[in-house]
Amino acid sequence: MTFSTLLLPSCALSILYLLTSIISRKISVSRFKSIHGCLDPPALPQRERIIGLDLLKAGAAAVKAKNSLECAVRRIESTANTFSNTIVGLNIITTVDPANIQSILAQKFSDYDLGGRIYAWGPLVGKGVFTSDGPEWAHRRAIIRPNFTKQQVASLDMFERHFGHLLALLPRDGSTVDLQKFFFSMTLDSATEFLFGQSVGAQGAGHDSEADHFQRAFDFAQHQMPDRNRLGIMNLFVPNAKFKAACKIVHAWADRYVEQWLSDRRTHKAQQSTGENSKYVCLEQIADQVHDPKQLRDEMLNVLLAGRDTTAGLLSNAFHVLSRHPDVWRRLRTEVETLRGRLPTYEDLKGLKYLKCVLNEVLRLYPPVPTNARCAKVDTMLPTGGGPLRTSPVFVPKGSIVVYSIYALHRRHDIFGRTAEDFIPERWSSDSFDGPLRPGWGYIPFSGGPRICVGQQYALTEASYTIVRMCQNFVELQSRDHGPWREGLGLTLCSGEGTKVGLVPV
Ligand code: HEM
Repeated sequence: MTFSTLLLPSCALSILYLLTSIISRKISVSRFKSIHGCLDPPALPQRERIIGLDLLKAGAAAVKAKNSLECAVRRIESTANTFSNTIVGLNIITTVDPANIQSILAQKFSDYDLGGRIYAWGPLVGKGVFTSDGPEWAHRRAIIRPNFTKQQVASLDMFERHFGHLLALLPRDGSTVDLQKFFFSMTLDSATEFLFGQSVGAQGAGHDSEADHFQRAFDFAQHQMPDRNRLGIMNLFVPNAKFKAACKIVHAWADRYVEQWLSDRRTHKAQQSTGENSKYVCLEQIADQVHDPKQLRDEMLNVLLAGRDTTAGLLSNAFHVLSRHPDVWRRLRTEVETLRGRLPTYEDLKGLKYLKCVLNEVLRLYPPVPTNARCAKVDTMLPTGGGPLRTSPVFVPKGSIVVYSIYALHRRHDIFGRTAEDFIPERWSSDSFDGPLRPGWGYIPFSGGPRICVGQQYALTEASYTIVRMCQNFVELQSRDHGPWREGLGLTLCSGEGTKVGLVPV
């Protein structure tokens, strides 16, 4: 028997197998669709539906012009709240429908995973709560979560110390200052102290110091993330020496603290039991359960990645918008005056109702995580968005990416009214004409469902504390940037043009 006589039947068998697989897949998809009444959502107009080159080009141009989020809003307005498109052969469904988002994040949580996140973020932060799925993720979350109870978060001395460093660096002569840069350093200092027990000391760090190197490496690595997110598994094949070098610097810094803590462990524990050292350190608690130094480093870096830029972004955008709304600043100061100049306690912060409205509104208009996505692990469906009425369930084939834009969701007129694009903290007040807003799944700055942000209270406490202390120190906040707000997109959202203000001291 010759090679060619063997080849022929095996080719025929392979083709037959392929055809049967395609046909049986088509049958099972159409059965799924008919059982659940699924209809297709509108398709985004694109020149071809394989690579999506026109969409990729338009996306890159929007990122360059710092208005990709606004472009997404316009695209949704002109297409539908749920639509499909194809990029590099991938079926993508985009949605800003609260019912669909609730389905992805909560009701059908186990039908989805994080897709290629581990390939994009893994080299920097390894495997931890932010980059894993399934039982592994549940185990990690169970270890991390107890570190964010009220008791741990309510210790405000640390925030005061780092705010003190910030205050010392701010000009008091009204000259223009970019607060955003200071907020990124302050949140890096507080987060590293909370997590590792030692602040990196980024505030006021000299050029070329270790803190400066760490901050620059961490920032650089994070700014690579949008591109790395787009590449997904392809990151494995695209060399990036600068990114690798930045990861090395971050790892070396974190390893040092992990090793130091592991070697001083006995002393720390003894000091804690005698009450000599009452400072709360996340690393200490996590090290009780995670013994491998590399795993411990990864767990800590995952939380640092999740927590630092998000809080800095919230503060930067808050001061950006406050500097353009002197009336809101005045009202905030009046509320803060009830403290009569003393340092706020945790309970004081909780009682400042207008401050809460301001933060809600900043998180609505400038959500630090403005876009997110999940990948379907199995054939599943979204509850709404399909068919001519756009209300039928939508089939989501296994392997599809479902993208949800929090930025666009938070600007929906049917949820937030005709003034959805405007900054109006009062809309959150219980004294508002229509009563307080209750947007449910229409407002998700901290996400929702089983993966809801664990650091929400920590972030709100740090942001509230900083705003109160700024109110106590500055009577006026003058905007020194008269252009429109533009996005600053790394892994998270900040202000693209910084937060340029003039400060008038009390
Ligand atoms: C304004 C500040 C913050 C915002 C808007 C925010 C928002 C979010 C969002 C939207 C997610 C879900 C991401 C996803 O599922 O893909 C998330 C997850 C997470 N956040 Fe935050 N976050 C903030 C601050 C913090 C802080 C300060 C920490 C810790 C110090 C933190 C720790 C985490 C962790 C560990 C997760 C992963 C939870 C999991 O996957 O189970 N976040 N955050």
